[in-house]
Amino acid sequence: PTNHLQMEGGSSLLRADCRAKGGSPGFKVAILGAAGGIGQPLSMLMKMNPLVSVLHLYDVVNTPGVTSDISHMDTGAVVRGFVGQTQLEDALTGMDLVIIPAGVPRKPGMTRDDLFNINAGIVKTLSEGIAKCCPKAIVNVISNPVNSTVPIAAEVFKKAGTYDPRRLLGVTMLDVVRANTFVAEVLGLDPREVDVPVVGGHAGVTILPLLSQIKPACSFTQEETKYLTTRIQNGGTEVVEAKAGAGSATLSMAYAAVKFADACLRGLRGDAGVIECAFVSSQVTELPFFASRVRLGRNGVEEIYPLGPLNEYERAGLEAAKKELGGSIDKGVSFVRK
Ligand code: NAI
Repeated sequence: PTNHLQMEGGSSLLRADCRAKGGSPGFKVAILGAAGGIGQPLSMLMKMNPLVSVLHLYDVVNTPGVTSDISHMDTGAVVRGFVGQTQLEDALTGMDLVIIPAGVPRKPGMTRDDLFNINAGIVKTLSEGIAKCCPKAIVNVISNPVNSTVPIAAEVFKKAGTYDPRRLLGVTMLDVVRANTFVAEVLGLDPREVDVPVVGGHAGVTILPLLSQIKPACSFTQEETKYLTTRIQNGGTEVVEAKAGAGSATLSMAYAAVKFADACLRGLRGDAGVIECAFVSSQVTELPFFASRVRLGRNGVEEIYPLGPLNEYERAGLEAAKKELGGSIDKGVSFVRK
């Protein structure tokens, strides 16, 4: 591993390593895809998180530079870098939380499903490493298409005999973050005061904001509902088009990923009442996976909340979401079973 503490000739300043090993309070977190557009700001923000004691940065390229850079931040977490498949196992061993933003992003004109062929294999390989080296870790999957990559990870874990559905979560937090922002704009509120549940999945019509359930309670005209639902569903595409070929959301995604990872860590620590939306193994609908509000605790997902009362517009949206989502889930499952 490329360790920022490593000296010429390979010796290391052991006192700092002892601090990492010596049970300093906090959790061990690995980021897979740490040198990418999301990975870099995500790594920086996780280095700033006081709940993190050890931060492992893994990628197939460029982690030595990112690790060196981030390791100079005077925050508590000890940072170590790992590059290439041969170092994956070292990167994963002993981790409490693994965050996966590895894989290619969209370019204009692409759907998230267009990424399947490349990203499915990447998530499969990384999940095999997790099953082997840290089967009890909480796993946050960011790589798209999330609607298929989460089922892929589940199948890999099942094959390995390590699957615990409570510990595998697809990150849909960016949809919630966008929904809060766009709704706050329409209502003239501070986004920090707004909480919009977003259920379903993480692609196009599978992204289903439940505007009838927002906090603070508020009603919308039909026009506002349509505008907001469409903008939330297309938020990712808005960024892809603005970036014009240079990728998709990275900075807002890193923010959302850290917000979500922090909630997972607070759950692991035993905090009460940690509730976020996530794409998880679920019985809320007839589909095997679905995003909805979940309570996070010491074992990951401790409770999954039902969707609650939907209005007519949302019921129609739910049907459309389920139709597309079912196909994406099947595609992920058969990729591993084939
Ligand atoms: P990027 O191309 O900038 O970075 C991806 C990184 O993954 C690169 O550093 C690359 O070297 C690395 N990588 C490739 N193969 C790997 C492997 N086998 N093991 C470890 N690392 C590997 O892409 P960006 O913009 O960071 O996006 C990453 C993923 O996140 C994409 O699939 C994108 O669609 C997804 N995404 C998900 C969102 C969500 O809400 N869940 C939002 C935005 C993006």
